[in-house]
Amino acid sequence: MAKIADSIQPIRWEDHQLQLLDQRLLPQETRYLPFDEVQAVAEAIRDMVVRGAPAIGITAAYGIVLAARARFAESPANWKKRIETDLQTLAQSRPTAVNLFWAIGHMRGVIAGLQGDPEPALLDEAQKIHADDIAACRRMGELGAALIQRPCAILTHCNAGALATGGYGTALGVVRAGFAAGKITHVFADETRPWLQGARLTAWEMVQEGIPVTLQAEGAAAHLMKQGRIDWVIVGSDRIAANGDVANKIGTYGLAVLARHHGVKFMVAAPASTVDMAIVHGDDIPIEQRSPEEVLSLAGRPIAAAGAAAWNPAFDVTPAALVDAIVTERGVVLAPDTGKMAALMENA
Ligand code: MRU
Repeated sequence: MAKIADSIQPIRWEDHQLQLLDQRLLPQETRYLPFDEVQAVAEAIRDMVVRGAPAIGITAAYGIVLAARARFAESPANWKKRIETDLQTLAQSRPTAVNLFWAIGHMRGVIAGLQGDPEPALLDEAQKIHADDIAACRRMGELGAALIQRPCAILTHCNAGALATGGYGTALGVVRAGFAAGKITHVFADETRPWLQGARLTAWEMVQEGIPVTLQAEGAAAHLMKQGRIDWVIVGSDRIAANGDVANKIGTYGLAVLARHHGVKFMVAAPASTVDMAIVHGDDIPIEQRSPEEVLSLAGRPIAAAGAAAWNPAFDVTPAALVDAIVTERGVVLAPDTGKMAALMENA
């Protein structure tokens, strides 16, 4: 089973190039796009070729390797100054996933100490970030699965799987480990408008793994919970504030409200690089607004009445009070609050 998860590689470094699996084409087509320069990498993040908070961070790290190669060739004396523009370009690609800013900050720190050709050292670092993320996902899988007390079905939202990370997944890492341990028997997946990450990506990953998956429209979640058909909602996160508030794909907050009402447990699986201790309260997390066109159309075809406006926030924030467990590779925080999050993050 783990072998299959490992074979889903959203991000590869091959032949001195970054290669991204074009997630816009899945599941109909499996195509890798090659990248040699950082501007195109930033556009790929913005345009959703690659998406999911940890995957965005890893991609940015490889993008910085490409930027350093170009800037060093241009000016061996001034490349460190010139690469700052590229770091800014990457930082402007998507605003909510803090893993992007974490990766840029981390690579900037490495750049500061470099002498000579920067590419080998920066590539080592990007590959380490990538490998560490997969290891973190596996640990979160074990820790999250251990919280599940009896064989049950779960509901997930968006795609927090191998495709959204270096590999294996956060929420879907818990699903993979829980399925292997006989604790998760069935996955319900919200289709997740407007990008359909659930229908296209989560369902695809689950089918590849042989994990039974049932798709539903988002609006079906309340009915599912009322019928007592799931024990847990398990999701990922793009940014977790210092008080334990959780930003994730739009619709997650609604699921948390429903879960509490129906006595369903709510689990968030995310690496420590998703926790932003500089953001005190979830209301301060920047929420990406995407084009209304994404809501007004489906698969490139208009679906709404001409003249209708659309609102398209990509994320929402679930208050910590509605979260039963935050699972990170550093450990589990039950009923998160400011004190418990601080203790988790000190425990490096
Ligand atoms: O807009 P996306 O597809 O990048 O949104 C992704 C999510 O909301 C995921 O749940 C989150 O990034 C966690 S991925 C492990």
